[in-house]
Amino acid sequence: MRKTLAILFSALFILVGAARADEGMWLPLLMGKYNIDDMRSKGFKLTAEDIYSINGSSIKDAIVIFGRGCTGELISPEGLLITNHHCGYGAIQQHSSVEHDYLTNGFWAMSRDQELPTPGLTVSFLVKMEEVTAKVLEGLTPQITEPERAKLIAANAKALADSATQGTHYTSRIVPMYYGSEYYLYIYEVFEDVRMVGAPPSAIGKFGGDTDNWMWPRHTGDFSLFRIYANKDNQPAPFSPDNVPYKPKKYLPISMKGVNPGDFTMVYGYPGTTQQYLTSHAVKFVAEVSDPQKVALRDARLNIMNAYMDANDTVRIKYASKNAGVANAWKKWIGEMGGLRRLNAVERKQELERQFAAWAAASPERTKKYGWLLPRFDSLYTALEPYAIARDYDREAVFAVELIRFSSNFKLLVSAFESGKADAETVTKLQHKLLSSAKSFYKDYYLPIDKQVLMAMMEEYFAKMPAEFHPEIYTEIQQKFNGHWGDFASEAFEKSVFADSSAVYKLLAEVNAQNISTLSNDWIYRLMASFNTVFATKVDGKYAAINQQLDLMYRTYIQGLREMQPNKLFYPDANFTLRVAYGSVNGYEPYDGAQYLHYTTIEGIMEKDKPEIYDYNVPQRLRDLYNARNFGPYTVNGTVPVAFIATNHTSGGNSGSPVINGNGELIGVNFDRAWEGTMSDIMFDPDRCRNISIDIRYVLFIVDKFAGAGHLLNEMTIVK
Ligand code: ARG
Ligand code: ASP
Repeated sequence: MRKTLAILFSALFILVGAARADEGMWLPLLMGKYNIDDMRSKGFKLTAEDIYSINGSSIKDAIVIFGRGCTGELISPEGLLITNHHCGYGAIQQHSSVEHDYLTNGFWAMSRDQELPTPGLTVSFLVKMEEVTAKVLEGLTPQITEPERAKLIAANAKALADSATQGTHYTSRIVPMYYGSEYYLYIYEVFEDVRMVGAPPSAIGKFGGDTDNWMWPRHTGDFSLFRIYANKDNQPAPFSPDNVPYKPKKYLPISMKGVNPGDFTMVYGYPGTTQQYLTSHAVKFVAEVSDPQKVALRDARLNIMNAYMDANDTVRIKYASKNAGVANAWKKWIGEMGGLRRLNAVERKQELERQFAAWAAASPERTKKYGWLLPRFDSLYTALEPYAIARDYDREAVFAVELIRFSSNFKLLVSAFESGKADAETVTKLQHKLLSSAKSFYKDYYLPIDKQVLMAMMEEYFAKMPAEFHPEIYTEIQQKFNGHWGDFASEAFEKSVFADSSAVYKLLAEVNAQNISTLSNDWIYRLMASFNTVFATKVDGKYAAINQQLDLMYRTYIQGLREMQPNKLFYPDANFTLRVAYGSVNGYEPYDGAQYLHYTTIEGIMEKDKPEIYDYNVPQRLRDLYNARNFGPYTVNGTVPVAFIATNHTSGGNSGSPVINGNGELIGVNFDRAWEGTMSDIMFDPDRCRNISIDIRYVLFIVDKFAGAGHLLNEMTIVK
């Protein structure tokens, strides 16, 4: 009976063309118009005004962009904020040294004066957002050409953005939605005195490491704490000892009540990029060409790294962060292509396109407006493919070679000398920059890995790329080394200045025309420059031109889709603007015959405990607390909850976002997605897409019982 009802309901949904349950990253400003009734029917107890208010304070005032690509939220009236450990990682690393190894040991400020200023770290509050399409498109005539249109829009947008912040300390940005069908103005207040307050040791904050990354069940304590400081007027100011904790307009109360299956949840934060409206051609390319080739290239690179890392501890530490970065996207792409295939994403898109074509053909007016789109998508994507493949190889093979990447930093210096613009000021500036990048580069550089990577990547590049995309230097290398990349690598790594850090420092200490001109005989520099030329002349321009046309077509295509499905709610692709996703706590079926629960506990941490495995080495103090069952008020059914999953539609950038219950209270901090659902950036599957959050009660347990920093809890509002 329940099954038939469910089928009936889903049939109804398809009939009215509603967005699929739980899918969507909604604009906070429009919740009242589109989503609030649905949200309330699913358990949200507050109003649209509570989410986003033009006049008063609302939950949005408790949310920040943290650093460059994460989200954070205020949890006290004194500027305390929480985000992920992997979002605070750069800051934690920045403050770490051999004497104070906060990555390994964690860090806890026991008083305000121990909080660590973190130069370079900013947080941004959204002051307001506003639809400005009419103003951005002002002056547009039906006859206008696309280049003229773009020019006009850029000028209008600039004027609007400037006037919106005139006489204030705010910054602003005009953002296109739906490929430029609509435009929104965003105004931000940026704080630059942000101090580190607390971080668990990596053995908690990164527990499970890359082994568990993108996976459920998960046991990572992925959080860190910071505090925003302001001047005496509660306004942003550069670091000063006189600054005081910022008093936010709003902070989130914390709920101790936890989660049950079916509970309403909402994620409020900054998803980075999604591509929900891609046509079948593009989805096919991602699932069948791009993801597989990128994964294969990274497979090769990771195998090389792992072999050397396993053999040597120093190398393991040097390459830990690089390896994590390479592995993160690699694993996501594997999940994404698997998910797209399992969902039959290409066929679904084709089905939608058949509907669209039929709908467009049904009236002469629509035929004129939309009938040309799909055939044109087809031909443009066919034309794009070789360039898109080449760009994948540029990023994933050529730039995978660390020395090639590093040597490209010297291009500016070389061209300054070549063009006779190497005045003292320019040279000094570039010298400083290169010196600091050289320092951080060589600190974690291990030549034998890079040499192997170069051989493997060049083999792949020239095996797969058509001759048209071969750099000029290839003929010379062929002749000189008989096509043996091993011989080339031996000579290049023997003779290149970049293979020897002291030679690079020497070059940087004596920058002059003569020394810089030696780079024109340097194998690595020449290889980099030659690739650079081939991409600049034969790939990038074509790629950009076709994509520009595609973007324009998507604008029209989505207009058509919205016209065809007037009852369906549309949401714009993620573009690192503030969004609301909502759904419910729920487990899922990862593969046939298995069922995942919606939560994990500290029991799982102890089950994974394995001191000899880096990713699973539980800190002794946590073992002690566990063995003594010293869980304090964080005990739930005799254990401590650690993480939970829900059906919220999230993406990269949502890391650190608050997970909020029906009462507007914080129940968790979002940090990842489950592997079987990582195709959600392209197509969302309510059955398998899950966001992963740390349970806020595990955060409190770690802060209070593990770190002994319970004083921090005193400034929070904890709802029992
Ligand atoms: N997969 C998560 C995200 O995309 C977390 C990445 C950090 N953790 C890691 N083990 N690399 O950002
Ligand atoms: N881990 C991601 C982030 O750092 C979140 C995600 O992709 O789901 O933003």
